[in-house]
Amino acid sequence: MDEQQEEFAIRVRDLVVGFGRQTVLDHLSLDVRRGEILGLVGASGGGKSVLMRTIIGLIPRWSGAIEVMERPIGGRTQGAATTWGILFQQGALFSSLTVRQNVQFPLRENLVLSQELMDEIAIAKLEMVGLRAQDADKYPAELSGGMTKRVALARALALDPPILFLDEPTSGLDPIAAGDFDALIRTLQRTLGLTVFMVTHDLASLTTVCDRVAALADGKIVAIGPMRELLQSEHPWVRAYFHGKRSQMLQHEMR
Ligand SMILES: Nc1ncnc2c1ncn2[C@@H]1O[C@H](COP(=O)(O)OP(=O)(O)O)[C@@H](O)[C@H]1O
Ligand SMILES: [Mg+2]
Repeated sequence: MDEQQEEFAIRVRDLVVGFGRQTVLDHLSLDVRRGEILGLVGASGGGKSVLMRTIIGLIPRWSGAIEVMERPIGGRTQGAATTWGILFQQGALFSSLTVRQNVQFPLRENLVLSQELMDEIAIAKLEMVGLRAQDADKYPAELSGGMTKRVALARALALDPPILFLDEPTSGLDPIAAGDFDALIRTLQRTLGLTVFMVTHDLASLTTVCDRVAALADGKIVAIGPMRELLQSEHPWVRAYFHGKRSQMLQHEMR
């Protein structure tokens, strides 16, 4: 095993993915370093969710190679649940299950544990994401947007995966809840040593929590680096995204 490989949690090479006659990802390559928070930006419908879903083996690829924690993805994805936790874009909780049952869901699916142990784990995970034990018996309909995201996060982390995938986790949250969620992601990444792959449009998230930002345009990663480097990018789409009127206004207000 060479040193280069060990550095990366995710390696994507020459990935081509499409549906019917539509090519969505077109010879895309991307490395995610171990222990970093990587932000992914791109136009709506540009293939961010498709990239995430292809990495975790939910969408088949036309060609190219993907490795996650040094293991090739494709064909068999067994053991995957312990490798990554996922917060899907439309990642709703199971509405008929309590918070506790939602968090325990991956445990039940993947392990054989006593009810007592599962209850202990659920409470520990809820506390880890800033919720209280009293919240465990609530139903999703009784939760605020921010709490719902936290429960989904607790569920994603139930099996202690080293990698966390987040698809627009702060969309739909007010700025305060979004800021709190970002801070939580940063804390969890530091304390658990997680690698985080985060699709986001949130300029605050990009500047405050992401170690690096990757820009997806025309089916490829056209720029990648710390946010300050992306702001210098000459790529037309990246320039338009970060220096367009709307983002100028937002950046101005963030100062
Ligand atoms: N399961 C699917 N079947 C057919 N087309 C899909 C499917 N999933 C995504 N697409 C198409 O792929 C493109 C990229 O979608 P997506 O990755 O969801 O974009 P976004 O960057 O907004 O997350 C879109 O044109 C979408 O319609
Ligand atoms: Mg998406």
